[in-house]
Amino acid sequence: MNTNNDIVLKIENLSLKFHTPGGIIPAVEDFSLSLRRGKIHALVGESGSGKSVTVKSVLRLNPETNTEYTSGRIEYIPSEGEPIEILSANESTLRSVRGSKISMIFQEPGRYLNPVMRVRQLLTETMMTHLKVTKQEALEKAKDLIRLVELNDVDRVLASYPHELSGGMKQRVMIAIALSCSPDIILADEPTTALDVTVQAKILALLKKIARELNIAVLLITHDLAVVYESADEVSVMYAGKLMESSTSGSLFKAPQHPYTRVLLGAVPDISRRGQPLLSIKGNIPDSADRPTGCIFSPRCPEARDFCSLSVPAFESLGNNAHGVACLRTRELFRA
Ligand SMILES: Nc1ncnc2c1ncn2[C@@H]1O[C@H](COP(=O)(O)OP(=O)(O)OP(=O)(O)O)[C@@H](O)[C@H]1O
Ligand code: SF4
Ligand SMILES: [Mg+2]
Repeated sequence: MNTNNDIVLKIENLSLKFHTPGGIIPAVEDFSLSLRRGKIHALVGESGSGKSVTVKSVLRLNPETNTEYTSGRIEYIPSEGEPIEILSANESTLRSVRGSKISMIFQEPGRYLNPVMRVRQLLTETMMTHLKVTKQEALEKAKDLIRLVELNDVDRVLASYPHELSGGMKQRVMIAIALSCSPDIILADEPTTALDVTVQAKILALLKKIARELNIAVLLITHDLAVVYESADEVSVMYAGKLMESSTSGSLFKAPQHPYTRVLLGAVPDISRRGQPLLSIKGNIPDSADRPTGCIFSPRCPEARDFCSLSVPAFESLGNNAHGVACLRTRELFRA
């Protein structure tokens, strides 16, 4: 059973804009999501829907120069000590959270692993920066981490440079680095997209095992609904910077309520086949200069009525708090 004590991160009504030479981009609007310890929460949506921007906000990694957080809160709730509100935190508080309490893994680990450092140094330096450990203690922990991410030849892996490892091995090393400071949260932005299908399955199984065994919350961004189906406990569906639907994974796949979610699911012929991107639905996410009035999905929605362009749907819970939808026609379109 989920309780509020399980919640380790709360994004509440987040809105942010980018100021660009071409104008203002409202990349995220009134977006909310909670992460629970030991659970994988998937964030899905088409390209450009604001998934990466949202995840970067959790560590305030969007460029300070052109990002304006216009409303909302992001609260990190550690198991001990006071909650930290990320958007108003000072730099030293942020440094204490980044890479240690909340860590991140990316689509192409090769781009983020320093090519002139061996794996041993990559791991031990992270720990010596964030934890009060000696070099010898860090090295012992590095060996444990390599075993934890199920890489066999521990000494060879520790002595390797990133380019000497396969894509799947690099992602495991990246996960080991993310785990090195015992985080509460791992943010995973398309961590398996660059890998082949069998390696993807193994990395996802590893993430799931880590979430469960170490009681870590994972926010998993993906284009791939099969990845969600197999791995996620909870799912949020994002469109043009807004939250369309949020639910447990079981409930979302059994009875998707939002027309956008139904279109996405309908666009995937076989949900169990991994690697099918969410790109095959007709039309595009609206341009920031040309956003429709009312419901943002209305120009593409098969269920749209005239009134859908008149008011913005609020995000409402469907009786139980676990399933919420932002659609003006939720009651009419409801499917059990
Ligand atoms: N630093 C930035 N400055 C200006 N606009 C940005 C910046 N970062 C992202 N954007 C814009 O914000 C919107 C959301 O981008 P985001 O990268 O979050 O999409 P995404 O859902 O992660 O897409 P993908 O699936 O392709 O990775 C896009 O319109 C993007 O161009
Ligand atoms: S409010 Fe109208 S346009 Fe928007 S998703 Fe619901 S039915 Fe479609
Ligand atoms: Mg992205």
